Amino acid sequence: ELIYEINNYKHVEEKLERFLKIKKVIIVSGDSEKDKTVLKEMGRVCANYVKDLIYDGSIISITGGTSVAQVVENFPKLNTKGVLVVPARGGFGRDVETQANTLTANLAKKINANYRLLHVPDNISLETLETIANEPEIKEILDILPKTNILIFGIGRADEMSKRRGMAKEQIDELIKKGAVAEAFGYYFNSEGEVVFRTSSIGINFSDVKNIKNVVAIAGGKNKAEAIIATKINNPNMVLVTDEAAANEMVNML
Ligand code: G3H
Repeated sequence: ELIYEINNYKHVEEKLERFLKIKKVIIVSGDSEKDKTVLKEMGRVCANYVKDLIYDGSIISITGGTSVAQVVENFPKLNTKGVLVVPARGGFGRDVETQANTLTANLAKKINANYRLLHVPDNISLETLETIANEPEIKEILDILPKTNILIFGIGRADEMSKRRGMAKEQIDELIKKGAVAEAFGYYFNSEGEVVFRTSSIGINFSDVKNIKNVVAIAGGKNKAEAIIATKINNPNMVLVTDEAAANEMVNML
């Protein structure tokens, strides 16, 4: 059954790999927007892919969100050695269950890894940010993040994510005016894949993301197609786990 499904989507997967200029696209059948079991299956497939990338001493960084939460939830128990899990960004204005910090701790427990947390809220003043960034405990993590071997992240629509993050209305209007359609790891992208805004929080730098060996995105649903295309991170090592609904919509947009 599995082989049948892989063959079924191979053509579309290859087409999207070429179009997005990334290493791999994995499509799960169905629509995760309408059926939550599809998101769960995406999480399981993503977890199984990531599992094989981990080696002794790996540094894994992860973002928050309901999609990455499913990766963690469905991660097999592993007895790794010297692995470190860190949040890719500070705390987000969202449910505690899907915050990067929570997911970091949960994943670390599943794979017997160490972890560090980043207790920094979103939308704080630049002045406060600079002070916090120099705190030894925070600085330690900021120094670790560029050494990430595996990054697992979710992709959101700019309009949705800015609301979820509790951004001020004027700021949201400005963001939309700048053409932001996508958000990932605290950065907002326009449809050309250019960064148009960065959330004032602490976390991984876009320039670091480009150099990470394994960058694994998980995002599905027809609604996210434009956002997924916009999140061109200029990293040929990127892998995308998505669903049939988003994949079909992306193909329609080619
Ligand atoms: O940055 C984007 C979000 O992580 C996407 O969140 O997986 O809950 O849609 P989600």
